[in-house]
Amino acid sequence: MVMDNSYEPCDFVLFGTLGDLSRRKLLPSLYQLEKANLMHPETTIVGVARHDMSLEDYIEEVHTNLVKFGEKELCEATWERMRARLHYACVDMKNVDSYCVLDDHVDPSRTMVCYLATPPAIYGDICRGLHSCKIIDSSVRVVLEKPIGHDLESSKVINEQVAEYFDEKQIYRIDHYLGKETVLNLVSLRFANSIFATNWDHNCIDHVQISVAESVGIEGRWGYFDDAGQMRDMVQNHLLQILSLVAMEPPTTLDADSIRDEKLKVLKALRPINATNISESIVRGQYTSGFVKGEEVPGYLEEDDANTQSKTETFVAIKAEIDNWRWAGVPFYLRTGKRMPNKVSEVVIYFKRQPHNLFGDSFKNLPPNKLVIRLQPDEGVEITVMNKVPGLTNSGSMDLQKSKLNLSFSEAFADERIPDAYEKLLLEVMLGNQALFVRRDEIEQAWTWVDSILDAWKSSNEPPEPYQAGTWGPVDSIGLLARENRSWYESKTVKKK
Ligand code: BG6
Repeated sequence: MVMDNSYEPCDFVLFGTLGDLSRRKLLPSLYQLEKANLMHPETTIVGVARHDMSLEDYIEEVHTNLVKFGEKELCEATWERMRARLHYACVDMKNVDSYCVLDDHVDPSRTMVCYLATPPAIYGDICRGLHSCKIIDSSVRVVLEKPIGHDLESSKVINEQVAEYFDEKQIYRIDHYLGKETVLNLVSLRFANSIFATNWDHNCIDHVQISVAESVGIEGRWGYFDDAGQMRDMVQNHLLQILSLVAMEPPTTLDADSIRDEKLKVLKALRPINATNISESIVRGQYTSGFVKGEEVPGYLEEDDANTQSKTETFVAIKAEIDNWRWAGVPFYLRTGKRMPNKVSEVVIYFKRQPHNLFGDSFKNLPPNKLVIRLQPDEGVEITVMNKVPGLTNSGSMDLQKSKLNLSFSEAFADERIPDAYEKLLLEVMLGNQALFVRRDEIEQAWTWVDSILDAWKSSNEPPEPYQAGTWGPVDSIGLLARENRSWYESKTVKKK
């Protein structure tokens, strides 16, 4: 794709440029945008950190990280172009006086994008610092990483601090799942295909499953994770965003606010889960030692730096219900956990069974049609249908077989590289399109729902159920569906890449 004139050059200021997220994700994503010729030729990248270093050292640092976390062999021409954009500014982010150094690196007549890849606790300091050196005007965009808060109250504090200096139209809250190709594809699948558009409600759908399983554990982040748990780390953001896209009404347009208005309505319609209904709605678990992909791994309480008394959950399964006309009586089962057998994220739509079985001779219970949307890995879409087995019989009955219609992105779009979510999101910020970013009211509504669950857990003080690493979670998670004659979809199609 070649840039058109609607894309203005900008100064992309990366606060926390030496941190993990910048090194692993943001700088490699900027490199990929460079490689795809999607960076405006006049855009600059200004790395900001507390560390006093020369531009040469910063360039060296960026190069090392690109090789380590991005492409092993950098394309020389791409790197030369990227390198020419780099600036470095040493800023003590808690000290308002130290921000004036940015004047030497940014041009006030251009758009400035401030990406805060720092702990949220200093978002307020950074906004104040930018304000003090009179760098903020209506063209400045600010990008906020999760977690935005620990609960509703603390998220409001962070949002308020930022809102003191920036209008909502200038704020881009990241949920990196919204940048994933297949999550974006949920919108096109639903609204560009009439077969789904007309069958997408309680009349045709029995239930929906959303699973985001990871084989990794805590990855050296015990302190952060123990404070958050799987509910705050994954459900409050990624799973609720996916659920909103699956369940929302058709937006009027693809404009940021049309989509976000519809997602918000879903979040508002989620039936509260609290002390009265938590036991039938949620299972929480914590992994013990076990084997993942043949390798022995420690339990959560045996990880480095662990507090051996911790009651933090590393797994959650939820039966969520959406109290609106479209979804009345259709459960949305959510499941997410660490140290599960595979990394797999998928949405599975179970359609209702046929009201009458004409094929009882070959299938006592006709299985329901399923639409499986594989978010990662082996991205794609699969539909199970019943087919007649070809051939002649003398019994007068028809032999049926369950078959799969499989659209695998890697086969269908073999020449296309699937971009990392951050590439898409960084590009959208530079283009000034907020559609893939989360609005303040969405975040706060999601916290309202999650807080009520967290409060119920807190008052019950019960420990999570143990599950062995390398399994699909506690046995009770199977029971959550089994008592309604349903079972979790176990992905069997994961291909080795
Ligand atoms: C992050 C969580 O938001 O998402 C991590 O903090 C999790 O705990 C990660 O591992 C999963 O993202 P992805 O893109 O690897 O599925």
